Amino acid sequence: MLEKSIRIGTKTVKNRIVLPPMATFGMTNDDNTVSETQIKHYGAYADNGVGLIIIEACAVREMDEPRTTIGAYDRRFLDGLKKLSEATRKNGSVAIVQLINTGLSIMKENSIDEIPQDLFLSYRDDFIKSAGIIKEAGFDGVELHAAHGFYLDQVLETSTRSDMYGKSPKNRAAYVADIIKGIKQSCGNDFIVGVRLGMHEKTSDTVFMAQEFEKAGADVIHVSFGIRRPEETEEPSLDARIICAGEVKKNISVPVICVGGLKTFEDADGVLQKGYADLAAIGTAQLADHAWAKKVLSGETPKKCLNCRQCMWWTDGTRCPLARKLFS
Ligand SMILES: Cc1cc2nc3c(=O)[nH]c(=O)nc-3n(C[C@H](O)[C@H](O)[C@H](O)COP(=O)(O)O)c2cc1C
Repeated sequence: MLEKSIRIGTKTVKNRIVLPPMATFGMTNDDNTVSETQIKHYGAYADNGVGLIIIEACAVREMDEPRTTIGAYDRRFLDGLKKLSEATRKNGSVAIVQLINTGLSIMKENSIDEIPQDLFLSYRDDFIKSAGIIKEAGFDGVELHAAHGFYLDQVLETSTRSDMYGKSPKNRAAYVADIIKGIKQSCGNDFIVGVRLGMHEKTSDTVFMAQEFEKAGADVIHVSFGIRRPEETEEPSLDARIICAGEVKKNISVPVICVGGLKTFEDADGVLQKGYADLAAIGTAQLADHAWAKKVLSGETPKKCLNCRQCMWWTDGTRCPLARKLFS
């Protein structure tokens, strides 16, 4: 199943292996442009046959970020982004870029409701403008980061604003739905728009959000955790994110990506065979071995992530004991 192609929007993805967005903070140039090391790092996934590459969260606005995030809000980022799209859109890989506003942790307001109306609407429009830059750089699309407690997730899970974007799940969903519509309008229907959606407290709310995004034109939904991290599940061998992806998949018709603890061919293929999702994202296991996709598809065993106490990739991937060779 993992080796089978699938359509996302109008594009064909050659297999169901996804590289989920994973920040490489220590590698970004100090001026927030893409570095040569990042081009090498991401290019290796295309060379090794990953179907869908999702570039790490890139900022849609200049803000006082605690870490070096790649920028996607200005034309000065275009050169590096163009090189990155060339490196990743080869060998038949489809490549999209995750877009992020970090949210309240770096804003002066303490809640979504306190954000002044003009600013709140310009934060919405930032995503549409950045998607234009990503398209100009040559990528196949974008993924909106609406998970992990970041800005769009904060809107979706907490907004009680008195404007059209607060209180009910429908109003909250409309904020992201309007971004999706705006991107489709300005970048065209062939440009993939995906949403990484966090699990809400009630699964029915997560499913509802996914349905609203599909109606607005989203081409793919990627289920991860939300403001709260998942708790133990009834089926302890399976991550709560994957069980939730399965619920979403039952209720929408665009492809669903699942993520969470998938390390081996059997793990990834198994969740697809059981119908939890259409594509499987393999994170740390692919950080540990850039050739994970090629190896599992040809029956080889990839290098195993060492589960260091703190993943070296959070600071500088060139220090990952397994991946280091690629950069030497
Ligand atoms: C070093 C590192 C950086 C990450 N950066 C991002 C990111 O930029 N955006 C995002 O949505 N998730 C990010 N994640 C989460 C991954 O996309 C993925 O959901 C997580 O690693 C779980 O998948 P796994 O169990 O296969 O590793 C990051 C994870 C790691 C390890």
